[in-house]
Amino acid sequence: MGIQLFRPLICEEAIDAAGEVLRSGWIGLGPKTLEFEKRFADFVGAPFCVGLNSCTAALHLALRILDICPGREVITTPLTFVSTNHAILYEHLKPVFADINPGTGNLDPKSIREKITENTGAIIIMHFAGYPADMHEINTISKEYKIPVIEDCAHACGASYRGQRIGSSANLHAFSFQAVKNLPMGDGGAITLHSKEQMERLRRLRWLGIDKSTFDRVDIGNPSNYEWNYQVRETGFKYHMNDIAAVIGLHQLPLVESQNARRRQLAALYDRRLAHIPGITLPQYENDRVSSRHIYFILAENRNALADKLKQADIGVGVHYRRNDHYPMYERTILEKTDYFCEHTLSLPMHMMLSKEDVETICKVIEKGW
Ligand SMILES: Cc1ncc(COP(=O)(O)O)c(C=O)c1O
Repeated sequence: MGIQLFRPLICEEAIDAAGEVLRSGWIGLGPKTLEFEKRFADFVGAPFCVGLNSCTAALHLALRILDICPGREVITTPLTFVSTNHAILYEHLKPVFADINPGTGNLDPKSIREKITENTGAIIIMHFAGYPADMHEINTISKEYKIPVIEDCAHACGASYRGQRIGSSANLHAFSFQAVKNLPMGDGGAITLHSKEQMERLRRLRWLGIDKSTFDRVDIGNPSNYEWNYQVRETGFKYHMNDIAAVIGLHQLPLVESQNARRRQLAALYDRRLAHIPGITLPQYENDRVSSRHIYFILAENRNALADKLKQADIGVGVHYRRNDHYPMYERTILEKTDYFCEHTLSLPMHMMLSKEDVETICKVIEKGW
């Protein structure tokens, strides 16, 4: 069997606990979701967490609660999964693509600054591959121009920036617990944040605008106490987390730290083996931040030929990402560094089922040339 690019590992305790929830009579938004929210907020070091069914939903709701007038601009990255930028379109806002730092894949703060106009309503950054963006510079821009920042943390669960976990700052943070993320729960997402008022609004928005969840209105054990009356004051969405995903998360969360450490070990092994191979450039990472190493990427000359060579050896590779502004629905933008990155980047296998021997096998194929 070949080597997969991504592969989730769900611990036996999570599988058993999901079975218990399935048998319990309460599988929707309920006590496990509430417990997960508390535990995840503690894990990242944020006052509040709102559990959702995806990071796509988290990005959408993060923009919704900023109440930006339709038509205004949101500065964003072209190097991301389309969810980040679709969320901008959901809110009838205009994505304005800034350029990246080709050493990291993260947005270049200088380019963000150049894109600011009086019409800018927000900035969305993404911590590419799990390596935290230049948050000091980005937060400085945010304060200077009074523009809110949303952090797409889909890759960055467990990462930290200058000693602070990603997810803990005063910005809005959108996480993904999708099948192959560092905290896989099948599907799921969350927003971590500081404002109680925004947290309360998010709880309504994730449940169609309804002011009390079904779980708030039942009295388990006393079915006749079911409270049917509730209030709806604004249009919400069907975006809430459910207890099956939440209980998987509760059992996977304590593993994130050690699993991320394992990812970093595997990345260091790749780095050592690939550093001196002509035609390959490794990411340029600073030591003031800790990556969650969700994706391991290299920049390779003649990338497509290398990808073909690895595929012939039954090794899964990927390209993260095709730049979003080149999809027909977005506006093409001149971004030289993004051009270079997208032509050269190649993601190699990185997951918890990957062994050191697998990394060795992959590096040997690369070493032979392409
Ligand atoms: C950078 C980024 N943002 C957002 C998402 C969307 O996450 P979800 O599948 O939880 O909606 C992903 C998922 O792959 C992602 O990689």
